[in-house]
Amino acid sequence: MSNLTFGIIKPDAVKNGYQGKIIDAILENGFGIRGMKLIHMTKSEAEGFYAVHSERPFFGELTDFMSSAPCIVLCLEKENAVPEWRVLMGATNPEEADEGTLRKMYANSLGENAVHGSDSDENAAIEIAYFFSKLELV
Ligand code: RTP
Ligand code: MG
Repeated sequence: MSNLTFGIIKPDAVKNGYQGKIIDAILENGFGIRGMKLIHMTKSEAEGFYAVHSERPFFGELTDFMSSAPCIVLCLEKENAVPEWRVLMGATNPEEADEGTLRKMYANSLGENAVHGSDSDENAAIEIAYFFSKLELV
């Protein structure tokens, strides 16, 4: 298990002003922040990031949403970072997310679900490298 994962505070959560609360929850749950920046993805950057979903019916909607407004990208550090961050995020559909999870508290819908997290150590490494240069990771 790697100690790094990649996260995004998605456009809906930034627009709704939840970024401070989400960063507080990250720190309170024992994650270190190795990299963090506010970006506004282009459509093609969002398509590159979500390339694994390119054949899915929701790909257009997902990449439109992710490029619609600014988001915050994060490199997070904790023991077992990938599963630990997914536990804190909660289920993909906020209606199915457990109490106390970020998606339960801050997400509106399956499509606009407040946060992203890598699903494996391999993808975490790919996703961190997609958004951060070496110099941007502390
Ligand atoms: P994410 O990658 O954003 O952290 O979310 P996840 O692993 O929990 O879910 P994933 O299966 O990777 O799906 C990526 C994002 O696509 C949207 N989605 N829409 N309309 C649909 O059926 C549908 N299914 C997934 C969600 O916003 C999900 O976060
Ligand atoms: Mg995913």
